[in-house]
Amino acid sequence: MTRRIALVSGGTGALGTAICRALHHQGRAVIALGHPTDAPRMDAWQQANLQAECEIRHHLVDVANYEACSDALRVLQVDVGPIEILVNAAGITRDASLRKLRPEDWRAVMATNLDSVYNLSQLLIDGMLDNGFGRIVNISSVNGRKGQFGQTNYSAAKAGMHGFTMALAQEVARKGITVNTVSPGYIDSPMIRQVPEAIRDRIRESIPAGRFGQPEDIARTVAFLTAEEAGYVTGAELAVNGGLHMH
Ligand code: CAA
Repeated sequence: MTRRIALVSGGTGALGTAICRALHHQGRAVIALGHPTDAPRMDAWQQANLQAECEIRHHLVDVANYEACSDALRVLQVDVGPIEILVNAAGITRDASLRKLRPEDWRAVMATNLDSVYNLSQLLIDGMLDNGFGRIVNISSVNGRKGQFGQTNYSAAKAGMHGFTMALAQEVARKGITVNTVSPGYIDSPMIRQVPEAIRDRIRESIPAGRFGQPEDIARTVAFLTAEEAGYVTGAELAVNGGLHMH
């Protein structure tokens, strides 16, 4: 079997990097998408990957921009071939209670976290249908399920991702393509470290497992869902949250 090509949006972030490495170890050819502002740290990022014996290609593009995604995917697929595995892991926070939430904070979170899922999935779905194989995994959040003080924007976008998952899963279920959601809880990462320490401590105490998760906890789940053998799992939401929210 030829080596399948996997694309990970947000692939240069903490969760994204762990996901890229897990997919590499699974035998995939992996491309990480990062934001253009990541450029200065890409050499160090690649060095760390090489030390971890992971060969990951990267490409910088604003995934919130449909035209930019279209151009990037055209170039990448001419170079490497058809992308059959897509992990939508690009995400940002702009936390503020609603009365303080500015329109630009609403738009930025919706554009990066949710528009990007449409952009990349819409641009890749025809290729997956042509090949009769595809795996799409959307990285949502526990806060898309339970809500979170200060995250009307983020919770709405993350809940929207799973709505997208369930609808697209139905459209492509007969064509060898699965679409699933992974909903991380609080994972030890720069995003969590932005939360004020006192709030962060309270959140940690409320997690039944008594600790934050690791990026590898999410990566392993993505590897499971994108495996060849996972073809009957579709439209599902897998919670990986240390018991913080059960449903
Ligand atoms: N629940 C209930 N009340 C709360 C509260 C909470 N969680 N947090 C603050 N409040 C109360 C305060 O006690 C205060 O009450 P009084 O007015 O009676 O004194 C009031 O709300 C303050 O409201 P403000 O709008 O002024 O809030 P703020 O500006 O001080 O802080 C915030 C708002 C920045 C959102 C802050 O609460 C915060 O950082 N919260 C954490 C948000 C969070 O968990 N983000 C997750 C980031 S990681 C992630 O998103 C990854 C993932 O997928 C899990």
